[in-house]
Amino acid sequence: METLQLGVLGSGNGSNLQAILDVIAACKLEAKVACVISDVADAFILERAREAGVPAFHVDCGPSKSKLEKDAEQRAISILQEHGADTVALAGFMRIIKPDLLRAFPQRVLNIHPSLLPSFPGLRAWEQALNYGVRHSGCTVHFVDEGMDTGPIILQRTVLVHDRDTPDTLHKRIQSQEHIAYIEALRLLARGRIKIEGRRVLRTND
Ligand code: GAR
Repeated sequence: METLQLGVLGSGNGSNLQAILDVIAACKLEAKVACVISDVADAFILERAREAGVPAFHVDCGPSKSKLEKDAEQRAISILQEHGADTVALAGFMRIIKPDLLRAFPQRVLNIHPSLLPSFPGLRAWEQALNYGVRHSGCTVHFVDEGMDTGPIILQRTVLVHDRDTPDTLHKRIQSQEHIAYIEALRLLARGRIKIEGRRVLRTND
């Protein structure tokens, strides 16, 4: 069993960060949030971090909304390392992570995505799912590789799509599962209960 030192990266509301902070405060996850980084200066995720006494940083990532510039990536790596992070949890971080960051935290960068991957990678996945007409959707926690939402899958949780769903109602239902899924995945990692074999993430006994 180890205590994960989490560096959390996010661009928005930070409800996944909040779920992680709450479960740590309740002593139900062997982890500490070492720092939080956002590419958006006024993102609520930074407020949530400060409220919890967690060091919070805005890293200016330049004009593109989806790219992570080299300088910004180096700055993020430095902050993570200075704060002792050993695991990076992307929680609504809307930029593609570059190889340098992945190399700094090998097999230790996780992401949560609001669809059942490999269906609907990319932006507004819940809306893509609704428009496609699938009857089940959900969320995926996966290790991050150099692709977009392509890394080995740790776990998934499903939700039903209802006839009267709007993008918002479906996203809310998915998010309530995200908050459970991310914690389950982090708990497995902290307890040394997962190993990666190629594309497959297998459970080991503790
Ligand atoms: C979550 O639904 C997460 O799955 C999604 O952004 C939202 C962030 O919510 N991430 C992506 O779409 C990444 N491709 P939060 O800020 O409340 O945690």
